[in-house]
Amino acid sequence: MTQRSSRPSRPQRAHPPRGRTGPARPPVDDPARQAALDTLRAVRQRDAYANLVLPGILRERRITGRDAALATELTYGSLRAQGLLDAVLAACTDRPLSEVDGAVLDALRLGAYQLLRTRIPAHAAVASTVDLVRADRGSGAAGFANAVLRRVTGQDEAAWVEEVAPDEDTDPIGYVAMANAHPRWIAQAFAEALGSRGEPLREALAADDMRPAVHLAARPGECSADELAAMTGGEAAPYSPYGVHLDAGAGDPGDLDPVRQRLAAVQDEGSQLCAVALTRVPLEGRDERWLDLCAGPGGKAVLLGSLAVLSGASMDAVEKAPHRADLIRKAAGDLPITVHVADGRESGLEEGGFDRVLVDAPCTGLGALRRRPEARWRRQPSDVAPLARLQRELLTAALTLVRPGGVVAYVVCTPHLSETVGVVADVARRTEAEWLDAREFFPGVPDLGDGPQVQLWPHKHGTDAMFCAMLRRPV
Ligand SMILES: C[S@@+](CC[C@H](N)C(=O)[O-])C[C@H]1O[C@@H](n2cnc3c(N)ncnc32)[C@H](O)[C@@H]1O
Repeated sequence: MTQRSSRPSRPQRAHPPRGRTGPARPPVDDPARQAALDTLRAVRQRDAYANLVLPGILRERRITGRDAALATELTYGSLRAQGLLDAVLAACTDRPLSEVDGAVLDALRLGAYQLLRTRIPAHAAVASTVDLVRADRGSGAAGFANAVLRRVTGQDEAAWVEEVAPDEDTDPIGYVAMANAHPRWIAQAFAEALGSRGEPLREALAADDMRPAVHLAARPGECSADELAAMTGGEAAPYSPYGVHLDAGAGDPGDLDPVRQRLAAVQDEGSQLCAVALTRVPLEGRDERWLDLCAGPGGKAVLLGSLAVLSGASMDAVEKAPHRADLIRKAAGDLPITVHVADGRESGLEEGGFDRVLVDAPCTGLGALRRRPEARWRRQPSDVAPLARLQRELLTAALTLVRPGGVVAYVVCTPHLSETVGVVADVARRTEAEWLDAREFFPGVPDLGDGPQVQLWPHKHGTDAMFCAMLRRPV
């Protein structure tokens, strides 16, 4: 525990000024931090996605190399750590953060992230942040930012965690959640899925708090994983036969030649494994028609579609949102995938007409938080119940579209039990579908637990926390 009495004396809590104070200055010459700050602002003001905004800013302003890497690290890091940063910043001001000007708060988060979670020297982190605030909001706001950040420099991240986190003995989940910058309810959901609030939970949250490697999927029939690894300087993935891992700092993977040429796609290895698992389930009789019932933007549909072509099957894809259906068509290129814009619960497709069906259902995405840095602070516990209802309805519909003896893969990128085994157990009971042991369709993947479902984890498998269950329609 930190000895609070021995902490170096810190400046008094800072008072935020009201509105712009003093004359604004011209923009500062700090393209990386300015790009990060502008992205944080878009995320806060417009509910934008950082992974869509930042690459656009970098391209538009021609920011490359070390500046682009720094902007990316600061943006994603500040967003991921936001709850922890806010708790620290709140301890350094005399008013609730809700009363601090939003633009100043963005800068404070950026500054606090540099102070607590990077090796950037404290004086540089404070001075560069204060310069940004002065240019944007004037000298009064700059003074406030300076006072707050000087207070943050008083101790390191571990000591701040001890100060702002719930007590570890009375609320171990709240403590580990704060220490790894996760909302408590998400840490609770992870704990329930892992069956542990101890070391496995800490490892899971810590892995979820790291910037992940970029995963690519080579398109079957077009390019092998080894060829893709050679083209991109990456490494063949440990489990997916089509997967390649790239260093996280490798820039926008959408710009890679093999991705532009549709020889490969950006896709988490866990997603690849779940799609491929569906093709590995043995079927008796016909195996000609495959369906993806929630297909946009098309990642799994394209992988399945490529495998369908190789095995002589046809591929249909259903997507409710028209613009996401367009993304499937774009991703598919000349692959023969028939795209239907429809609600998967009432698609109008032939009942019993398909041999293999994928339900990659809409979900909270709690298993892919490391790839969507702002998502953990946007999602709410109240999101779970309506999604679980929709998931049940989609899975039930899939079990009418698949023929007797055919197989349905239920996949979500969340480990939340209400969206995973809760959905599958309920639908399997009501439809009398056979719940197959999915583990055998993930050959070579270790540590898959007791089954019959598969739950992948970043800390165990290096993938997103994908869930997969296999159901066979009774004959
Ligand atoms: C998890 S995403 C699917 C990701 C996709 N399989 C991939 O790998 O790229 C779920 C998709 O389901 C779509 N969706 C939501 N409700 C739906 C419904 N009732 N019927 C069909 N699709 C739906 C969403 O628009 C979203 O594109």
